[in-house]
Formats: sequence, structure tokens, C-alpha cells
Amino acid sequence: MKIQRPRGTADILPEEVARWHFVEDTVRRVAALYNYREIRTPIFESTELFIKSEGESTDIVSKQMYTFQDRGDRSLTLRPEMTPNVIRAYLEHSLNQKEKLTKLYYLGPIFRYEKPQAGRYRQHHQFGVEAIGCAEPALDAELVEMIMYFYGELGLAGLKAVVNSVGCTQCRPGYSALLRNYLKTKLQELCADCQRRTEVNPLRVFDCKQPLCAAAISQAPRVSDNLCDTCSGHFRTFCALLEESGIAYTVKPELVRGLDYYTRTAFEIISEDLGAQNAVGGGGRYDDLIESLGGPSVPAIGFGTGIERILMIMEERGVTFPTAGGGAVSVAVWEEECARAGRGVLRSLRRAGIGAEMDFCHGSLKSQLRRAHKSGSPFVLVLGRDELSRGMVKIKEMSTGSEQEVSLEKVGETLKGNITK
Ligand code: HAM
Repeated sequence: MKIQRPRGTADILPEEVARWHFVEDTVRRVAALYNYREIRTPIFESTELFIKSEGESTDIVSKQMYTFQDRGDRSLTLRPEMTPNVIRAYLEHSLNQKEKLTKLYYLGPIFRYEKPQAGRYRQHHQFGVEAIGCAEPALDAELVEMIMYFYGELGLAGLKAVVNSVGCTQCRPGYSALLRNYLKTKLQELCADCQRRTEVNPLRVFDCKQPLCAAAISQAPRVSDNLCDTCSGHFRTFCALLEESGIAYTVKPELVRGLDYYTRTAFEIISEDLGAQNAVGGGGRYDDLIESLGGPSVPAIGFGTGIERILMIMEERGVTFPTAGGGAVSVAVWEEECARAGRGVLRSLRRAGIGAEMDFCHGSLKSQLRRAHKSGSPFVLVLGRDELSRGMVKIKEMSTGSEQEVSLEKVGETLKGNITK
């Protein structure tokens, strides 16, 4: 049997790559507009980093991590998100000492052992940002504005921002106790996982996808009704600033997001085109994470958005995107003895910045022309014994069929003005 790609992963074939480039170029452009700088961290990290950051009772840590022992018997994990990695790097390189507010973005693969379905993969790609060093709700509102601006630049429509506040270390313990007491009255209706969550981390019951659990918690006390004064003030200002920036949003009191590190602001961007996996992006504040990873007390906030889900929406909506024009120029040779000159032409074209190729397995001139046509070459350079003896080359424009002869030295110059890169 042929070896196939692992379940829940995808090959991005050449004809799909243009869409990825469009999204990636937009990522870089929008990140620059908001003054975020790129950071690249390893694909794998110490397992402990994720356990400490995300919390042992989260779905990611308890069920979804790709964890392995390396040959040195270290426990490593393929990154199931990027926030902990960025914070680890921020602390490791003392970025806090270089600037008061550190604004970073990233783009890359993420690994989660999930049940694959439309929009849910075991390897997906995320664009995310982390802004570290500011607790002001203006930053929270700017991040929501930024993610919505990014989607707008991609031409996405039909997106909704849902927001909530999940409280802080002041108000969360009281709320957790309240929720636990409520859940205890519903214990029989909860799944085994949620019965366990009731004891260890009741907030995580909101992550459960089981319809019976959802029904059991429909009347549960909501965190947003149990915030301390500082958190509710922060949330009110955040919402007012969203209004100021013209962002339509809905407050969703049961939005807690699936990670333990969140404090105060939590948000998700929902698309009506995605079916069950309807979140295209999500994020929130995590004011205690840096300290819990051994760093100073520094507030932070960020978001992550899945590229595959973005591409799904683009497809669903028929969003078009600019594609790079024209393939490489093809150099076709008549006879074997012209091949050397052909290779010389290739070299000089490339040096002039013109993409060029020659079919080294060349058959007849006819089959070389056929191949050039199929590969989308805008021009074919035909080198025959006759042309070469006069120091000339024939340029054939594929779209019109028109031909002209130019000297070998002038070929780069002639083509340069006619090629769309
Ligand atoms: P998240 O909500 O777990 O947040 O993931 C962010 C986005 O990644 C989701 O909205 C979704 O588009 C995409 N995504 C997640 N899992 C999958 C999957 N299995 N297949 C396809 N796409 C997926 C985070 O990861 C946080 N680190 C975001 C953040 C940054 N919070 C603060 N800073």
C-alpha cells in the first residue's frame, strides 16, 4: 500500500499556493500597519511549557497534544498554539527590558490531535499576535479592530465578533465556587468529563460540546455577571471603544475560551460559512501568564486566526485574489547542437531577473512548444541552427502567436519590458 499523508493534515499543492501567498502577504502588510514585528519560535517545546500555560484540565493539554520523548529522554510537544512559545521567548531573551510594550506576530503550523472534520485539522496554520506590556482596554479594542481589518483586507464578509470578560484572580475564585455549587446540583446530567471538571476546574464545563451538558449549564451563573468592579469597568470601556471604532459585536456571557490563562477580555470571530467549527479567530487577555511562567507581572493580550478556515470562507464566498502573472519564459531548441547556446540564454535571462526554463528532456520543437503553452509561458524563445548562425533568436508571444527576431544580446532587454512578474 502506498504511504499516505497523516490523517488531519493537508498537502498544499502548487495550484493552491497562490491563495496562501495572498493571505500571508496580507498578514505581513496588516502586521506592519499596526507595528507588530515577526517572531519565529521552534515547532516543538518542552511539554511543561504548555501544561503550565494552558492548564492540565484543558482539552488541549489533556487530549490534544502531540507529546513524545526525544532520544535524550526529554518530554517535548509539537506546539498546540503559539502564545506560550512567544512568552517563553519573550522571557528567555528579556524582551521586556528592551521596550515597555512588545508587539509580536507569527505565522506557522500548529498541531492538535483532534478528530478531523471540515475546518478541523491535526496540523493547521495560524496567524497570531501578542501585545505584551499594557493592560489598557484600548489595546484590547485595537486588537479586535486589527483582526477585523485583516479579514476585511482579505475580502471576507459575514463575520461577527463575540466578546466577554472572564474576570481576574480577584473575582474568578468566587465565581468558580459559585459555578461549582451550581454544577453539583446537575451532576447526574453531566458527562464523565464534566463531572471531573466540576471538581478541578468548573469553567472548563463551558468548553464541552455534549448537548446534554450544554442543556445542563444553560441556566448556570455566568462569569460576566460576577465580575469585580475593576473587571467590569475594564469590560465596559472595552465595549465602548469597540463602538467608537465602529465594530459590531455581541456580548456572549458563556464565552470562556478553551484555555486557562485568559483573564478579563475574551473574544472570538465567528463565521456563518464554517459550519460546526465556526470560529475563524479568537483571543483574549492573559495578564497572569507571564508571572506564572516565572517572569515579572506583565499584562498581555493576543489573538490567533486559522489560515485554513480563512481559505474556506474565501472559497465559500467566491473571494477572488490577485495572482502572479505569467510563467517562466521557455527556451526551445531546434537541434541538440543549439542546446549549449540555449543554456547560455537561460543564464542571461535569469541574471536579467526573468524566470526561464528549458525542457532538458526535449522532444521535437512541436512538443516543446506544446509544453510551454501548457505551463503558461508568456514567451518561447526558439533557437535553431539558422538563427544562431546569425547571432539571432526568435521570440514567439504565446497569447498572440506573433514572432520577432532579436539579437542574442538584446533578448533580455526586449523581454524585460513585456513580462509581468
Ligand atoms: P484558539 O482559539 O485555540 O486560540 O485558536 C485560534 C484559531 O486557530 C481558531 O479560531 C481557529 O481558526 C484555528 N484553529 C484552532 N484549532 C484548529 C484546528 N484543529 N484546525 C483548524 N484550525 C484551527 C489560540 O490558539 C490562542 N493561542 C489565541 C491567542 C493568542 N490568545 C491569546 N493570544
